[in-house]
Amino acid sequence: MYICVCKGIKESDVENLGRAGITCPKKLAATLGIDDKDNCCGRCLNKINDLVTIASREYKKHSTSVQV
Ligand code: FES
Repeated sequence: MYICVCKGIKESDVENLGRAGITCPKKLAATLGIDDKDNCCGRCLNKINDLVTIASREYKKHSTSVQV
């Protein structure tokens, strides 16, 4: 499912970032390139909390499944 139609970002892209440990709003926005005010409509940046939720959910899943 696309979460950003302007840049073609899918929910799975956000999940991958979460698994890589990127869960804070600023890092997510910068990594996805949605903090670029000149080339973004801003709709998905307004939903940054939803993206944080998706990334954090994947991070928790991944971190609990890794065995030491
Ligand atoms: S929907 Fe993401 S920049 Fe427009």
